[in-house]
Amino acid sequence: MNETYLQQVHNFLQHECWTKKHTQTAVKQRGEVFTPPRLVSEMMDKLPPEVFTDPTKTFLDNSCGNGAFLAAVLERKMQNGIPHKDAIKTVYGVELDLNNCNLTKLRLSLKSADPEVMKIINHNVICADALDSNHPGWNTAGFYWSKDNAVNIDDLRSPA
Ligand SMILES: C[S@@+](CC[C@H](N)C(=O)[O-])C[C@H]1O[C@@H](n2cnc3c(N)ncnc32)[C@H](O)[C@@H]1O
Repeated sequence: MNETYLQQVHNFLQHECWTKKHTQTAVKQRGEVFTPPRLVSEMMDKLPPEVFTDPTKTFLDNSCGNGAFLAAVLERKMQNGIPHKDAIKTVYGVELDLNNCNLTKLRLSLKSADPEVMKIINHNVICADALDSNHPGWNTAGFYWSKDNAVNIDDLRSPA
């Protein structure tokens, strides 16, 4: 992947067209506020760089909005030489609002003409309620937020 192509990818993924004015209803009902690109980038910088070089490392944003985080992951993976089609296979999103979901899909697609690309994205990015325990997607993994699967916050803290 040459520099010019990667610059085009950056320009597309970070274009201002992905931002939108949030209605009061969207903010109140669904907490719709998108993370600004600069903050996304700062957060990505805090992750170990190898997460973006490992072609098998997967990422999920279970309330992905306009796909800001997923786009940043995609871009970093591509900057590390992982081809677009391979990178999107490792990126997953869930979003309650159909318009936001479609924005994320279009963004991650890079408007590719390859039908395989949209097939992967339609599989990996879904319009659903991530908290819906009846969604068939939980059948194999088990509902993440059930009491049985609850994460003990103390286990996540670094030792003092
Ligand atoms: C605070 S925004 C964050 C969006 C994105 N992660 C970001 O940081 O820019 C939360 C998003 O989650 C969606 N959302 C809210 N509840 C959800 C749910 N139960 N399942 C899936 N998506 C949800 C909203 O529609 C909104 O787009």
